[in-house]
Amino acid sequence: MRIAMIGTGYVGLVSGACFADFGHDVTCVDKDERKIAALHRGEIPIYEPGLDELVANNVKAKRLDFTTDLKQPVADADAVFIAVGTPSRRGDGHADLSYVYAAAKEIAQSLQGFTVVVTKSTVPVGTGDEVERIIREANPKADVVVASNPEFLREGAAIRDFKFPDRIVVGTSDERGRKVMGDIYRPLSLNQAPLMFTARRTAEMIKYAANAFLATKITFINEIADLSEKAGANVQEVARGIGLDNRIGTKFLHAGPGFGGSCFPKDTKALIKIAQDYDVSLRIVESVLAVNENRKRAMARKVSQALGGNLRGKTVAVLGLTFKPNTDDMREAPSIPLITALQDMGAKVRVYDPVGTEQAKLVLADVTWCQGPYDCVEGADAVVIVTEWEQFRALDLERMRDLMACPVMVDLRNIYRPDEMKRHGFAYSCVGRVSTHQPVNVQVPTSGTESLTRAS
Ligand SMILES: NC(=O)c1ccc[n+]([C@@H]2O[C@H](COP(=O)([O-])OP(=O)(O)OC[C@H]3O[C@@H](n4cnc5c(N)ncnc54)[C@H](O)[C@@H]3O)[C@@H](O)[C@H]2O)c1
Repeated sequence: MRIAMIGTGYVGLVSGACFADFGHDVTCVDKDERKIAALHRGEIPIYEPGLDELVANNVKAKRLDFTTDLKQPVADADAVFIAVGTPSRRGDGHADLSYVYAAAKEIAQSLQGFTVVVTKSTVPVGTGDEVERIIREANPKADVVVASNPEFLREGAAIRDFKFPDRIVVGTSDERGRKVMGDIYRPLSLNQAPLMFTARRTAEMIKYAANAFLATKITFINEIADLSEKAGANVQEVARGIGLDNRIGTKFLHAGPGFGGSCFPKDTKALIKIAQDYDVSLRIVESVLAVNENRKRAMARKVSQALGGNLRGKTVAVLGLTFKPNTDDMREAPSIPLITALQDMGAKVRVYDPVGTEQAKLVLADVTWCQGPYDCVEGADAVVIVTEWEQFRALDLERMRDLMACPVMVDLRNIYRPDEMKRHGFAYSCVGRVSTHQPVNVQVPTSGTESLTRAS
């Protein structure tokens, strides 16, 4: 199959390289000349484990190439995938579809022969109808089927997720469209990945519903963490205790600083807006968004409390900036509002991230950029772990303690154990577990329940 991938970002480049690896001929197109020039030099413009090798192998095998001009690849293609960004629209939170519609208009001019145009970008219900209208208006003779094929990969594990997906969702009711999509994904159905065909609007809804559900799971456990912390329970064990129930599942139950990233915040916002347009209120999703928003500054207050309630003149070291490990993506990273809030409270902030520094420099100001975790904690009054990169999981705690002005750790990812931290002389705060510097902080509910006693 010949595939044109329009948009060569986190989704387009990974999908394009994986399709090429299945044996298809893929051209990845992007408007960004610097991105395409870098790819021609063999440089990968994003950080994604394993992607450099995958791209290099398929370029060498002549199954994958790159261009800024979509005309020829679209003319030659059996399927054209739209994988451009759909960020939150400034001002109202709707999905900004201008990139999708501009791509559709441009694609329309170059279509030749029967082609399936597939929206891989995350788009509101009904966007496929508008993409089809745009194409038919710009090129009434085009022999085209417009399908939806939302992407579920996670940055940091994108190649594995693409090659071994839980399911592939294809939204089209057209038989020819289904045949082309079936042929494209056949190598995956050989891996037993269920290929689910459905209507286009249903496929579009599945993507938003999936992201909203996962964001809800994270937010739920974060609220249970807050309660566990006050009530003297351990949220990690609560998460395991409920997650082992197959109806619930263990994933996305890690308490932390709140969700961020390129998808959950914008997609939950967009889903709420879609619902409003249909005069439906999604109160659960609205609460999830509001609770998550409040959590961001609450994490800064947690740091302040760990330092006695006053950050003025204090130095805080922040380990991890990207929204999760194994990516350089800083979009909506929890580190951004946390650091701003720490600065608002008067702290000086030192930061370190293993791969995200270049992207972080575009969004963070007035911080000290450090070369490694030990450089970062030097002279600090507290260290905050924000992103659980592997290299932060086994830090030399004695070395850290000796370098710091004050051995205080706020572990927003619960990667250390309170007893271990106490043994190493740290005052340790975490999320949803009793912290070492506040062992008597267990509260009794105001209504007073007989069976609950204040811990000593
Ligand atoms: N990043 C993720 O983990 C992820 C996962 C699933 C779904 N998605 C969805 O996939 C879509 C793409 O996300 P992303 O993270 O890859 O975005 P991205 O910003 O990394 O990449 C988008 C690319 O599209 C290019 N582009 C924009 N208009 C173009 C045009 N007309 N022609 C050619 N190139 C054009 C941009 O230059 C950019 O390189 C979004 O809708 C997103 O919600 C993302």
